[in-house]
Order: sequence, then structure tokens, then C-alpha cells
Amino acid sequence: MERTFIMIKPDGVKRRLVGEILGRFEKRGFQLIALKMLDVSRELAERHYEAHKGKVFYDELLEFVTSGTVVAMVLEAEDAVKLGRRMIGALDPSEAAPGTIRGDFTTSTRQNLIHGADSAEAAAREIALWFPELR
Ligand code: PPS
Repeated sequence: MERTFIMIKPDGVKRRLVGEILGRFEKRGFQLIALKMLDVSRELAERHYEAHKGKVFYDELLEFVTSGTVVAMVLEAEDAVKLGRRMIGALDPSEAAPGTIRGDFTTSTRQNLIHGADSAEAAAREIALWFPELR
């Protein structure tokens, strides 16, 4: 079994898509291990997205993720990281396939609803950052 880190971004909470999104993971067979709703501090956002510092979208990304409440969670399944990313779908709206979360619920590159860890290493780092109490 593998654990992944998933975060529903402020647009997902504002659009009342938390139940829909979490339900998709549960129905697929992921086990919910931990979940919290929080307003992200600038410091947590900077640490979470540290690999992207200096990129053109960095400031906008930080502003967006700190703009409202998010729902952070740890989900467990076989191959959870890869499967989670496939369920989320592509960042580019024209590439996000119908049936994926982004493909079904957003047309925006920026307001893209959800973050999923992109590797096992990233998942471990993000789980430790967001859920230190799980250690
Ligand atoms: S990269 O350069 O390929 O590593 O970037 P990528 O992995 O595609 O995206 C990294 C995170 O930045 C978000 N992103 C954006 N946010 C706002 N505006 C724009 N234009 C933009 N482009 C990329 C993207 O959603 C990734 O964040 P997460 O939270 O992982 O989805």
C-alpha cells in the first residue's frame, strides 16, 4: 500500500466540490487516512511549493493557495500516487480528459481545483509537512 498527499484548493472548497472529489477517491477504493481543513499560511505555501520558486507562475500560485480555505488529506491505495494523478487529470484544460477531476470540473489552468503529489518522494515530504502528527 502507498500513501499520497492530496489538497483540494480554495476554488474546490468555494465551489462546494469537496464531497464530490473525496467521494471519487473513496469510491475508487482509496482509504482516507487523515484530513484537515485549513487556511494556508504563506510559510506553509512556500515550503509546499519550494521546488517552483522562481517560476513565472510562482507568485500567482502562492497567492491563490493562500486565498481561502483548503482541504488537505492523506489517502492510501495501491500505487496511490500515480493513480491519484491520473484521477486528477492534466493541468492544461484542453488536455484534461473527461472523467478526470479537472476534465469534469474546470476550464482554468490557474483555478485547477486540486493538487496531488507527483512522486512517492514528494508524497512523503508533503505528508510530513502537512501532517507532522502522523509520524
Ligand atoms: S512545472 O514547471 O512543469 O514543474 O510545473 P507544473 O508541475 O506543471 O506545475 C507546478 C504547480 O504550479 C501550478 N501551476 C500554476 N498555477 C497558477 N497559474 C499557472 N499558470 C500555473 N501553472 C502551473 C500547478 O497547478 C502546480 O501546482 P499543483 O498544486 O501541484 O497543481
